[in-house]
Amino acid sequence: MSKRTISPGGTVTGVVELPGDKSISHRYGILAALAEGKSEIINYASAADCRSTLECMRRLGAEVEVKSDRVFITGAGLDGLKEPRKTLDAENSGSTMRMLSGVLAGQRFSSKITGDDSLRKRPMRRVMEPLKQMGAEITSQEGGRAPLEIRGSKLHGIDYTMPIPSAQVKSAVLFAGLYAEGETTVRESVATRDHTETALREFGARVESLIDAKGAVRIYPRPKLVARQLVVPGDLSGAVFLISTALILPESALTLHNVGLNPTRARVLDFLVSIGGSVKITAVQLRDGELVGDVAVAYSELRGGTVGGTQVAEMIDELPMLAALGPFTEQGIEIHDAQELRVKESDRIATIAAGLRAMGASVEEFPDGMRVSGRSAGKLRGAKVESHGDHRIAMALSVAALGATGDTTIKDADCVGVSFPEFFSTMERLRGAAV
Ligand code: S3P
Repeated sequence: MSKRTISPGGTVTGVVELPGDKSISHRYGILAALAEGKSEIINYASAADCRSTLECMRRLGAEVEVKSDRVFITGAGLDGLKEPRKTLDAENSGSTMRMLSGVLAGQRFSSKITGDDSLRKRPMRRVMEPLKQMGAEITSQEGGRAPLEIRGSKLHGIDYTMPIPSAQVKSAVLFAGLYAEGETTVRESVATRDHTETALREFGARVESLIDAKGAVRIYPRPKLVARQLVVPGDLSGAVFLISTALILPESALTLHNVGLNPTRARVLDFLVSIGGSVKITAVQLRDGELVGDVAVAYSELRGGTVGGTQVAEMIDELPMLAALGPFTEQGIEIHDAQELRVKESDRIATIAAGLRAMGASVEEFPDGMRVSGRSAGKLRGAKVESHGDHRIAMALSVAALGATGDTTIKDADCVGVSFPEFFSTMERLRGAAV
């Protein structure tokens, strides 16, 4: 297992172009495989998770060619996927397993999908339930865990109100809706990222946002999906680690180019501004249905603040980083209503709390969040910490380590490759840029 030692200090300056957004890349990868013709996806995520999606689509009969950050996919057409010879492997990727389940449920063949140790511990009933309501036959292991066996069935549309806010579940139901008889409606009381709706429209599906109901989306079945050339925006969730570094290291100033700014994802930038961060957005444009722009960030005296309610779903992947900013703020960071963090790649409430405590932070854990005390609780000091194999924990603790006194060693640091393989090299380059 890889260890990485981080020496604190320095500044980050310069300009960064980020690898493609992980969420959007998954959706383009799946839809290009279901489309007719050859799609070209530019700036496809380098994240291992998105490679897992491509490998699954390849095993299902799509032709996939990767040329550095460009991916060419010749789709099999909506009805052209073929029975995979082996079990599909989503590895560490919850998005791959959950979203693909929706596609597999509507096929004329059976398939089995598994994942790594972490993914096989994560809850899958949340996708199985609505898909079963649509007529799917899915069996899981004890407790609704993967591997899942999905027997392709004739599906019918449903009107589904999501009990938990999850874009992955919404996406699984919408993908199944492509194959269903009749229309499928998904309702959510808390808005989650809408990349699937946007991507479906880009590939030619008919998807409506209902004006009579807040947060309802309807898909009509059996569209002709057509191959596209699409550019994936830079990954905002990865960018947040670099943005946070610039906020806490004095004299830092960074510009991030072509970052995805979809309003269902970008709330984290509003939050950082609300706690005193100097974060400025320019050159915003709409590309392939997604907002992109440049983000300029500079070192700031952060006040701290509280995250809760509907903000949680909008910033779910950024919460470990926000928690790790706590010790660098005046009042600390408090997070509520975030029990979903406990079923991510690790129990992110427990794992980030343990890492920060090891570095000397004062952290109070709640069932649905935590309170990380601010500067007055003392400066963080270097320590031996664990990523628990969770990419976002590894990156959040790395950023905290840069602002600590003394070296920090992170166990199993290579897991950053799950979403941001270039994280450490980018950080090194930006820290070197000032010298
Ligand atoms: C994702 C949705 C979120 C998020 C995950 C990516 C997506 O998961 O945490 O990293 O791409 O739809 P949930 O749907 O479980 O909230």
